[in-house]
Amino acid sequence: MPGLVPLVEAAFAPLFDQLRPGAPALVRVSQRADYQVDGALPLAKALGRPPREVAEEVLAKAWEGDLAALCEKAEVAGPGFINLTVSAEAMAAQLAVLRPGASGLGAPRPDRTLRVVVDYGGPNAAKQMHVGHLRSSIIGDAIVRMLEAVGHEVVRENHIGDWGANFGMLVEHLVDLGEDRAAHELAMGDLEGFYQAARAAYEADPGFAERARARVVMLQSGEPGTMALWRSLVDASVNHFDQDFHRLGVKLSRDDVVGESYYNPMLDRVVSELSEAGLLVESDGALCVFPPGFANRDGAPLPLIVRNSAGGYTYAATDLAAVRDRTERLRADLVVYVVGLPQSQHLAMVFEVARMAGWLTRGEQLVHVGFGNVLGPDGKMFRTRQGGTVKLSELLAEAEERARSVVVGRTGGTAQDLAGDVDEVVRAVGTGAIKYADLSTDRVRDYRFDWDRMLSLDGNTAPYIQYAHARVLSIFRRAGEATRLAERSGDFLPPADPEERELAKALLSFGEAFADAVDGFAPHKLCGYLFDLASQFTRFYEKCPVLNAPAADLVRSRLALCAATGAVLATGLDLLGIQAPERM
Ligand code: ARG
Repeated sequence: MPGLVPLVEAAFAPLFDQLRPGAPALVRVSQRADYQVDGALPLAKALGRPPREVAEEVLAKAWEGDLAALCEKAEVAGPGFINLTVSAEAMAAQLAVLRPGASGLGAPRPDRTLRVVVDYGGPNAAKQMHVGHLRSSIIGDAIVRMLEAVGHEVVRENHIGDWGANFGMLVEHLVDLGEDRAAHELAMGDLEGFYQAARAAYEADPGFAERARARVVMLQSGEPGTMALWRSLVDASVNHFDQDFHRLGVKLSRDDVVGESYYNPMLDRVVSELSEAGLLVESDGALCVFPPGFANRDGAPLPLIVRNSAGGYTYAATDLAAVRDRTERLRADLVVYVVGLPQSQHLAMVFEVARMAGWLTRGEQLVHVGFGNVLGPDGKMFRTRQGGTVKLSELLAEAEERARSVVVGRTGGTAQDLAGDVDEVVRAVGTGAIKYADLSTDRVRDYRFDWDRMLSLDGNTAPYIQYAHARVLSIFRRAGEATRLAERSGDFLPPADPEERELAKALLSFGEAFADAVDGFAPHKLCGYLFDLASQFTRFYEKCPVLNAPAADLVRSRLALCAATGAVLATGLDLLGIQAPERM
């Protein structure tokens, strides 16, 4: 695997292990030198020795070993860090191993491939997707792509809300409209209008409300006519979600829909298993589990309600059945829930009850990958000017309109160098800007939706990184013959200029950045890395002539640096679900 951290790791790890078995070397990319080894501090503490002394000892031994061939300078600094400056020759040798394709660029290889279920998207049928679902879709998709790229086996599940008492009124409204008209309205994507009209009828008309309640009973008993109407409602919504996901470039499709209704036949069993495990408590006619450690504001134990007093199964019951299904039928080792932070407590309780019920016997991990709210430019919840839910299709249309002026504006109002690709580029930039803005902030924080910032051509944005990538390709269009030369490996000269060196170092850090992003389900770490790489490239390109470099071997070497940059930027954007247009 290319990348210098594994080599530094290999030079130090056995020495730390000798002094104390299992003690980690803790190597990381450093700001002050190239790499920093931090392991001497915890090790010295465990051994009861001065950390600088331990660091000196380990460094001297490493230097006698492979380190001298790798580094031009190594020293103990501060309380006991080891700072390393890699030699230019070692950098060139490592760069030569870079090959297009995620793993060839230094992507991490886990010890064990896992079967991972990623629960993301999760919109509700017959309702407009809101920005929370948009976030879940974008973040979830990046996580899916990263997990797949490191070799895990991923099952995508879109846990849509397609069941519950609401469907009584929705089916009744469908009947009132007539199936044809209802189908038309839903096909037009006016899910919100349909839902609001049903709600209004329910509230204003007692007769309608009565029918809606009777309809719920028919649904619960599986009456065939009612089920067919319900199905058509859900299908229309799924069609609509499908279009949205497709437009967004999110991998979710109708085949990934495993909605709440899917779990209906399993709910009785869930309850009887909880009962057999002695976990069920009846409280005011409802069936509950009280997992320890959860309390309300007054300190009273908090129930996870599985069946309400009317005998209806809850959202929690469905989620418990989903845990069972995912770990048992799908044999998942890891289940990742990409769901907003307001559901933290719900999920924590579901996970705990699953554990108490003894369903997690193979060390299965259930992880909530939460995220904050989307705020408008005013810092309040993101809404339309009228105060309604922002429609994804309108959001994307606006993104493209604004991206058009960015792209066309940059090419002097003619966009002639884009030839016929303008629309495609505009789409890639517009959608990319929205996705990147969402992915580049630490997901647990709220993020502010700001058109000007996300579409800016300088800063930590998609257009900036896409532009750096397109610039690399434009060099190759001009290079012609030299292109083919640079594609051969081994063309890297030891980087001599500081900008070359920094670019090389950034290229060799892809694997670490990627590993951090996957391990923490933290796409923003990959974004930060790509921004740094694009910035290093910009600096390099301003200082170091490529095609006009003074010697032929330097032209080839710099072209090879450009090629590697282009490959890493394109791969990184792809991992985030963002396109990298060839021209911009
Ligand atoms: N439909 C839910 C909502 O809109 C999200 C589903 C999240 N996934 C889950 N397994 N609970 O809030």
